[in-house]
Amino acid sequence: MKGLLLAGGTGSRLRPLTYTGAKQLIPVANRPILFYAVDAMVNAGIRDIGVIIGDTGDEVRQALSDGSAFGAQFTYITQSAPLGLAHAVKSARHFLKSDAFLMFLGDNLLRGGVADLVERFSDRDFAASILLTEVADPTQFGVAVLKEDRVVQLVEKPKNPPSSWALVGVYCFSSAIHEAIEGLQPSWRGEYEITDAIQQLIDWGLTVDSARVQGWWKDTGRPEDVLDANRLILEDLSGGILGEVDQESQITGRVLVESGAVVRRSVVRGPVVIAQGAHIEDSYIGPYTAIGPKVRVVATEIENSVLLAESQVENIDARIDQTLLGRGVRVCGGSRKPRALRLVLGDHSRLDI
Ligand code: DAU
Repeated sequence: MKGLLLAGGTGSRLRPLTYTGAKQLIPVANRPILFYAVDAMVNAGIRDIGVIIGDTGDEVRQALSDGSAFGAQFTYITQSAPLGLAHAVKSARHFLKSDAFLMFLGDNLLRGGVADLVERFSDRDFAASILLTEVADPTQFGVAVLKEDRVVQLVEKPKNPPSSWALVGVYCFSSAIHEAIEGLQPSWRGEYEITDAIQQLIDWGLTVDSARVQGWWKDTGRPEDVLDANRLILEDLSGGILGEVDQESQITGRVLVESGAVVRRSVVRGPVVIAQGAHIEDSYIGPYTAIGPKVRVVATEIENSVLLAESQVENIDARIDQTLLGRGVRVCGGSRKPRALRLVLGDHSRLDI
């Protein structure tokens, strides 16, 4: 079975972070989201993987390389424009040929992996098999109606959801999907929807099977989802002190201090990961925080947050909580009174003070 990993698209809901980079490369627990998808595919025995790339293709190629580091082999496929998930499959036709394949949306994270789904699909004669989970607000997702495990109807982002079963971004397909894609028309949002192609398979009387997510699932489309995903991944962190922690610092719980990171006169309460080259001084780093490479935190309290590479946070006299900082961001406080805020923020920035 082949794999198709989707790393194109625009990432509009994650702006301003995605103005300068691919949304699938935003790190959770200091590792790009996309890497977890590759791990899940390889763990399910899928090694021959096509990677769909768009405008951010160079960055994705650089991060993933040829796949050997993951035990996989990548073939990069450029999608001319982000015209929808079905369009991405169409763009990969020459790579997929008539083989069955697993499609994985590169911004989705699954704790339980995909091995069960792949095994079930490989053993049976299904046209497609999809992964589902119950959600509180199905209007944001593809939604399935089931008869036992068989899918009888699918709708993409319905205003009035017919069930609470949301499509998770992982699908197994037989080659029948290509014919279904051929006849598609763009949806109301102007995209060629894979959901509509699967509905076509159902209309043709073919079997579309479903399985339920084991463990948790996260679509990291919005900033709050990235923070949630970071928390969930850090739950499984194994700690270790490889960097330098001075005598005056206090480390409790599962904390990973990578080599080349420095912690001075600070309190760190895990689960926390502190990447190579980071510098923490006179600070408190609280649970569920990921400090990226070469980040500098001085005289600041921070928790439940993700700080990307080379950011700098200094002398902040309120606790920083639930915060997502992009690369090279500077947040600096001062002691002069009366205080004023001096901000230089890009379009669509969000600052909760
Ligand atoms: O996350 C699950 C949901 O994913 C499903 O419930 C929906 O049925 C499915 O349509 C999809 O919805 P989204 O609106 O969340 O998809 P999004 O546009 O965020 O794209 C998902 C991934 O695929 C993302 O990593 C970008 C990539 N992509 C997207 C498009 C539209 C491409 O590579 N090419 C594309 O043309």
